[in-house]
Amino acid sequence: MNTDIEPPNDPASLRRALADALAANGSLTDPAWRAAVESVPRHRFLGTAVFRQSGTLWEPIHRNRTGEDAWLQLAYSDETLVTQVDGLEAADASGPLPGRPTSSSTLPSLILRMAQLSGVAENDRVLWVGTGTGYSTALVSHVVGAENVTSIEYDPELAQLAAERLHRAGYRPHLVTGDGLHGHKDNAPYDALVATCAVRTIPVSWMRQVRDGGTLTTTLSGWMLASGLIRLTLDEDGGATGRFTGDRISFMLARPHERPPRPTFFRREGDRRRSRVDPGLLGDWTAQFVAQLAAPSAELMAMSDGMILVDTATGSQAWTEPSGDAWEVHQHGPLNLWDQVENALLRWQESGAPDQSAFGMTVAPDLTQTVWINSPDGPSWRLPA
Ligand SMILES: C[S@@+](CC[C@H](N)C(=O)[O-])C[C@H]1O[C@@H](n2cnc3c(N)ncnc32)[C@H](O)[C@@H]1O
Repeated sequence: MNTDIEPPNDPASLRRALADALAANGSLTDPAWRAAVESVPRHRFLGTAVFRQSGTLWEPIHRNRTGEDAWLQLAYSDETLVTQVDGLEAADASGPLPGRPTSSSTLPSLILRMAQLSGVAENDRVLWVGTGTGYSTALVSHVVGAENVTSIEYDPELAQLAAERLHRAGYRPHLVTGDGLHGHKDNAPYDALVATCAVRTIPVSWMRQVRDGGTLTTTLSGWMLASGLIRLTLDEDGGATGRFTGDRISFMLARPHERPPRPTFFRREGDRRRSRVDPGLLGDWTAQFVAQLAAPSAELMAMSDGMILVDTATGSQAWTEPSGDAWEVHQHGPLNLWDQVENALLRWQESGAPDQSAFGMTVAPDLTQTVWINSPDGPSWRLPA
């Protein structure tokens, strides 16, 4: 037998093929990250099952039922592989179930996008928030040296699994089980912080634990689940500033920033008027982001006959309905949610309705946080404290 010829489905060949594909589509430009993709065995970070979306349900795919070739193909695809839904590991699921993903192995191109955006390089000290399966922590450990990486996972069971898998794959970064929103001050200051879960506001600890001139790369999201990727650079005054990239990517919210449960929604009659914007506009990625900035404690539901906004804090609601060739809106409760959202959308439109790459963010030295269009003097919104 000629042992030089690798079977087409061996993990090393699949890793090389993945690296080639990522390089070809422009996701992988840095040789150090290419070496990481070619070395880190993603299949060893997935355990024995992952979930696949099937309509509104999550269907477990068990390694021992797919066959090894199909499993490895899946592991080395540029796909997010959901490993946990509402706290249940895929390995423990016997059939399709409803719910929302609570952990996953992020698609490799997205990890690379964030890591390369953050500018981390060999010997940088990195705080990685959201260890998840451990795969992305292994990649960054490969590039900067595991001794320079601190990785935090909120869920103790996931943290334990990730630790075992990282150690088995030969990586020994500092692993912390806890709330990444508090950072980990024992290993601060960091040159860079990268979050693979989204936040509603930048936590104070992140501002304190990243050095001046260091970077903080995260998705900013909220209760409408609109999302924007940003890299902030810390300044000497204790503030930070940066621009959104315009990437259309999203992560699950950091668990303490998740939307609280709300009672079943019933439409209530309220003040009624003609809407000045077409509610369908809220289907647009950036418009939805603007709406979320304007009503940060509200949830958005898209219905076949219009949009619904419900404020989680006050129960205020707004809902639209078609009326001839226009739209009417009903607003009920202490907050006029539609007024807030509509005004913001009109300001965005007056600025030329730019996409997210025209947006930026400032964290002031007193830690107030503002998202703006074009420049800090442009239309702006304060993030929730
Ligand atoms: C998208 S997954 C990260 C996947 C990881 N990049 C990988 O490739 O395996 C997000 C992870 O963030 C974790 N998480 C959520 N909130 C967190 C928090 N406050 N602190 C630390 N981890 C958190 C979740 O439990 C989940 O495992």
